[in-house]
Amino acid sequence: MVFYHFCSNRTRSIFVWRKTVFIRIPFNNTMAFHLISGGCGFVGRNFVKRLYRTTEDTIIFVDDLSVGTHPSTWLDTSMPSTKNKDMEIIGEDGRLLFLKADFRDVLREMLKDDRFFQNTYGLEFDKFGDIFHFAAIVGGRAKIDGDPMVVALDLAIDAEFFLMVVRHKPARVMYPSSSAAYPVDLQTDQDAIALSESDINFKKMGQPDMTYGWSKLTGEYLAQIAAEYYGVSVTCIRPFSGYGEDQDLTYPVPAIAARAANMENPFEVWGSGKQGRDFVHIDDVMDCTLLAMDHIHDGSAINIGSGKLTSFLDLIKVFTGFAGYNPEIKPLLDKPVGVHSRYCNMDFVKEKLGWEPKISVEEGMYRVYKAALENQAK
Ligand SMILES: NC(=O)c1ccc[n+]([C@@H]2O[C@H](COP(=O)([O-])OP(=O)(O)OC[C@H]3O[C@@H](n4cnc5c(N)ncnc54)[C@H](O)[C@@H]3O)[C@@H](O)[C@H]2O)c1
Repeated sequence: MVFYHFCSNRTRSIFVWRKTVFIRIPFNNTMAFHLISGGCGFVGRNFVKRLYRTTEDTIIFVDDLSVGTHPSTWLDTSMPSTKNKDMEIIGEDGRLLFLKADFRDVLREMLKDDRFFQNTYGLEFDKFGDIFHFAAIVGGRAKIDGDPMVVALDLAIDAEFFLMVVRHKPARVMYPSSSAAYPVDLQTDQDAIALSESDINFKKMGQPDMTYGWSKLTGEYLAQIAAEYYGVSVTCIRPFSGYGEDQDLTYPVPAIAARAANMENPFEVWGSGKQGRDFVHIDDVMDCTLLAMDHIHDGSAINIGSGKLTSFLDLIKVFTGFAGYNPEIKPLLDKPVGVHSRYCNMDFVKEKLGWEPKISVEEGMYRVYKAALENQAK
């Protein structure tokens, strides 16, 4: 049980009932409150951990756990946890506040009551600092091609999200678009190019990748409207194929790593395996995103990728090389593969932000391979 106590000298205390005593956790009321939707998914939980580690701010994160997993599975297990109504308060300092909910329900509450979090949970802050919106139906290629109408629900989540944003006017908003927003005709076997930010032009649209890409394009458009018409600072990012040690096994990088760790032979690959992507480590995605938020406020979008095209066959070679064997490749030609080649041009980001990825594909993949070996040993 948690009681928030607000003192006149603008320091705030949380009283947490732990075992038999109330403990007092003082903290400065001037510290910011941030909101992260989809905070238990792959990208969201990495941001929750990063902000917790690098700031002294309070982070409210919301996830319906439809895909993401409960914070007890990815936060330090020694962190104490207690409850304030349906909100879990995590950490000795009470700076991580987790709400298991459909974000659309939360958005509707926030639209009904512009002090919903303050009035419902006794939190004291004026406006949100940063809002990161990761709640989305994603699901990888199987879902993007296999159930596109479910993925189209992202249009609904994003529309309600941006309505909340323009009403609440937080300090800054981060909207993750995707490389899937780029026109698919620039990613074919014959005509693939390194995709530049200017290859998306709202005055001359190309066809994005399924409903997933369409929802991201719409999200970017709403981001620009929020900035231009309502004066909200919004940054959009287009991550290419983000990966990391703790990514779900439905994604290719950790799945291939796990199968290499198991010495799979023959080694299955979706399609011919010649299709390629631009793999970028989650730590680089976060570094670039946070930097971009300091510089981009008009809702425009930047690429986040390595700028290199790596085929799935190359990826298998890297992982089986780590494992020390050379398997026979078994193409699964009935599986969905998406566009042939998707990779980016990072020149604009280098010029505008002076940023380049730090983690090479080899280093990042080795980290994932080590994690796969550790998981195998559990
Ligand atoms: N991972 C990447 O490489 C990548 C690349 C480009 C864009 N993005 C974007 O970043 C965002 C996060 O992607 P991710 O890879 O972490 O996906 P993810 O599926 O791991 O995370 C999404 C999270 O949102 C939650 N969620 C879904 N619907 C919800 C709802 N209605 N209410 C509350 N929670 C809900 C899920 O439980 C999940 O935890 C998405 O918008 C995605 O399109 C990711």
